[in-house]
Amino acid sequence: MIATRSAAERTTTRVAHPSPHAAASLAFAVGLVGAAATARAQGAVAADDPRATAVGAAVLADGGTAADAAVATALALGVVNPASSGIGGGGFAIVYDAATGQTYAFDFREVAPAALDPGDFVVDGAVDPMRARRGGLAVGVPGEVAGLTLLTERFGRLSWRRLVAPAMRLAREGSPTSAFMSQAAARVVPTLPDEPAFAPLRALLTVDGAPRPVGAPLVRPALAATLGALSRDRRALATGPIADDLVATAAAAGGVITTADLAAYQVAERAPLDGRWRGHRLATMPIPSSGGVVLLEALAIIDGAGVDLATLGASSPAALHVIVEALKHGFADRARALGDTDAGRAAARAMLAPARLAALARAVDRDRTLPSARYGEPAPVVTPRPGGTSHVCVVDRDGNAVALTTTVNGYYGAKLVTPTGLVLNNQIDDFAVAVDASNMYGLRQGAENLVGPGKRPLSSMTPVLVIDGDRVVGCVGGSGGPRIISNTLQVLLDLFVFGLDPATAVAAPRIHHQWQPDVLVVEPELPAATRAALAARGHQVEVADDITAVQAIRVGPAGAVGASDPRKNGARAAAAR
Ligand code: GLY
Repeated sequence: MIATRSAAERTTTRVAHPSPHAAASLAFAVGLVGAAATARAQGAVAADDPRATAVGAAVLADGGTAADAAVATALALGVVNPASSGIGGGGFAIVYDAATGQTYAFDFREVAPAALDPGDFVVDGAVDPMRARRGGLAVGVPGEVAGLTLLTERFGRLSWRRLVAPAMRLAREGSPTSAFMSQAAARVVPTLPDEPAFAPLRALLTVDGAPRPVGAPLVRPALAATLGALSRDRRALATGPIADDLVATAAAAGGVITTADLAAYQVAERAPLDGRWRGHRLATMPIPSSGGVVLLEALAIIDGAGVDLATLGASSPAALHVIVEALKHGFADRARALGDTDAGRAAARAMLAPARLAALARAVDRDRTLPSARYGEPAPVVTPRPGGTSHVCVVDRDGNAVALTTTVNGYYGAKLVTPTGLVLNNQIDDFAVAVDASNMYGLRQGAENLVGPGKRPLSSMTPVLVIDGDRVVGCVGGSGGPRIISNTLQVLLDLFVFGLDPATAVAAPRIHHQWQPDVLVVEPELPAATRAALAARGHQVEVADDITAVQAIRVGPAGAVGASDPRKNGARAAAAR
């Protein structure tokens, strides 16, 4: 059962560093786990592109901290995988400082521009959701650079220039197009309107008029120059020519973002959402993420439902059914009540009240899913699509850790690329543009998450650190909009309940349910008999091969072992678990 604690109750115990000699005596090894290189013993890095993982591992090998490695990795991800993240976006980070035993939560999520208004999304009396997905109005004020610089200022050891340099080199010298980027380009190119605003993204995503093939050199000279300016001046995206260029690009596509919005952007440091789970402490992201609260709610319902998951087995229909029921409660609450408002924050606290969680757990019927209305009001059905976003886990030799999730939201964000090489986010679609409207992930969005100036859109990003006493024993997080929550939950269960190793855990087939639409999405690798058994419990089962990607690190007696999800590099899970 989960027990949450307020910030005031959080531990302030000072804990000893692991001895540097002990760390040095462990062999440094670089191994391949899934598709990613992982530096063991001196720490570990897990990102969803092996080039970015290698950048982080090199930073650790140079004596950098977990924060240094996370920042360099995130910057590199934005170069090699602009579908998912970059300096035109934003993110969250959970940090564990081994010297003090303190955890921190940093919110560098995009903010709605001061001039943005719900009326901007109404055309001829009808809401036009595409305005929140593509073009200038879709762009939130980016927070990525502000967040990454703050992480290095607070927790870094290496110079900022050292951390930006690998990303700059990747952009200047180029690197082969990954299978994931190629797939994302093939999906997006046919949907791009034939308008000048989208020509720069078309140029980035095509080679000789066709979507980029795997392996085609991806060289980004404009972004390299921007990263060069950034390495000299951390405020280069907040004021000056790069900021002017961003505003002009959004304005030419109907946007209202201003240079004042960019100059005023502030990272929000928040108290991490803190839960107790099976003897561990979970540190995760509070509002404006829904990820942490839905994760803690679902874990508590699973534990209170009176079943022994470990005995049922990892992929058993009985275990998956309970997991789905717990997710449906969490997502129904998310839809009804959460958002970046005082009421949304109060609802998040109320959702985790132990008596309420116990009542929801008792309501789980082990043999049958409930009618959708039992989880909340009926909602319009919209087919969910996977999105961008990228998650990085780092643990360093001193036991510091960072779980960082970064995003431009949908693939290639607002589909706008500035002349200075930035792919601009479309984070405004994470708001409700009208009460009860569904967004591109099919998420029903309530009044607390209505778009409004200065608000941060409700997120599903779920960076989690698992802490045992005075040390981090796990890091998990993922990409894919609402699927982040369900998939992070499953990998946590795989690691800490079913006892899978990280590589097996992240590669195993997974499921997703977000209450509305009332569909249980399963990966093709889930055996047909399991699917049939879930259908027999009343679930409407749909097979989809684009679930999401999760990164994980497990720290055990042999040191930190990381694993990157093979899904994002084009490989499928090798075997059903
Ligand atoms: N943009 C994806 C999320 O924050 O949930």
